[in-house]
Amino acid sequence: MIFEKYKGRSILITGGLGFIGSNLAHRLSKIEDVDISIIDSLAEGQGGNLYNIESIKDRVKLNVADMSDSWVINHLVGGMDYIFNLAGSVSHIDSMKMPHNDLHFNCEAHLSLLEACRMFNPGAKIVFTSTRQVYGKPAYLPLDEHHRIQPTDINGINKHAAEMYHLLYERAYSLRTVVLRLTNTYGERQQLNHNRQGFISWFVRQAMEGETIELFGDGRQRRDLNYVDDVVDALLLAGLSEEAEGEIFNLGHPQHVSLAEIANELIALTGRGTVLGVPFPPERQLTDVGNCYCSSKKIEQLLGWQPKTDLKDGLKRTIEFYQQNREHYWSANENTVSESYTALSQIA
Ligand SMILES: NC(=O)c1ccc[n+]([C@@H]2O[C@H](COP(=O)([O-])OP(=O)(O)OC[C@H]3O[C@@H](n4cnc5c(N)ncnc54)[C@H](O)[C@@H]3O)[C@@H](O)[C@H]2O)c1
Repeated sequence: MIFEKYKGRSILITGGLGFIGSNLAHRLSKIEDVDISIIDSLAEGQGGNLYNIESIKDRVKLNVADMSDSWVINHLVGGMDYIFNLAGSVSHIDSMKMPHNDLHFNCEAHLSLLEACRMFNPGAKIVFTSTRQVYGKPAYLPLDEHHRIQPTDINGINKHAAEMYHLLYERAYSLRTVVLRLTNTYGERQQLNHNRQGFISWFVRQAMEGETIELFGDGRQRRDLNYVDDVVDALLLAGLSEEAEGEIFNLGHPQHVSLAEIANELIALTGRGTVLGVPFPPERQLTDVGNCYCSSKKIEQLLGWQPKTDLKDGLKRTIEFYQQNREHYWSANENTVSESYTALSQIA
């Protein structure tokens, strides 16, 4: 198996207590002798949750700290072979309400990481997760990497700036960076406390609760969704590929489904919930991109990545996970941090 190449390597996951980062940590923990470190600030309103790594906590060195703290990040990058840079704020709506916060999470923190690598570990491979939201309203579909960039929100602008930082450091300082533009991702370990990080986790919760899933507009907007395991595959492939360095890749899915179809699938799978079409709230209308899905041709050709998970199977697995772990995702997170988790104590 190709991912055995990570054996014996040191890996830092930024944002590793969050949804995608913790799934990556779980996958890496299955490979023998991988040294896994996480930095996560457990930022309020984001998806960080200590329970996400509860079953692998003996395999992970956890540093609860903000990546923008140069003193911390300068120490942490030393000796890392790979850095999966997943820290960030995902919420488009929050970015419009609190643009300075988004600038901090999605730009400033990444400059600190890149500066740390430039000074203390220029040989590390860095995989950065961006978003297809950078394209804005599609001029054509499916979106490919040449589509014009015209974000509809602050989050998209800041994520694009961070992409450019990563690629600039590749050109200017020969850092080994690669950018993946993710589409909506779903699966285990995603926060279900609010609906500001995208619709899918909120639909899952509402269906499981037997509530009414509200579809803005007519619910006919078509999207592609990736199951988190497939995204983890893409991250790991990008990490291993020298050809990928300096490149941007879309991660799309060939199934293009409407929001109404997704809601109805969840209702069928849970046996609960209903749907109701409602007018778009003005602040949501502003950032909505309508039909939106990506072509994965480039990553398929260069890295051999294709999503393997059919939407229905992925949703089924997601629901099963939350049925078994409901109490850890249904209310405020259990993020009481013990002293031993602080970055300073680990470094000292
Ligand atoms: N989930 C999706 O559908 C999706 C779609 C497109 C792109 N992405 C990108 O993937 C990445 C991971 O997303 P996710 O869904 O796992 O989000 P998440 O909110 O679950 O996880 C992000 C984590 O980053 C941490 N974090 C934020 N700023 C930090 C900082 N300065 N220092 C340390 N930790 C910090 C948060 O505490 C959180 O635990 C993000 O960069 C996001 O933009 C996600």
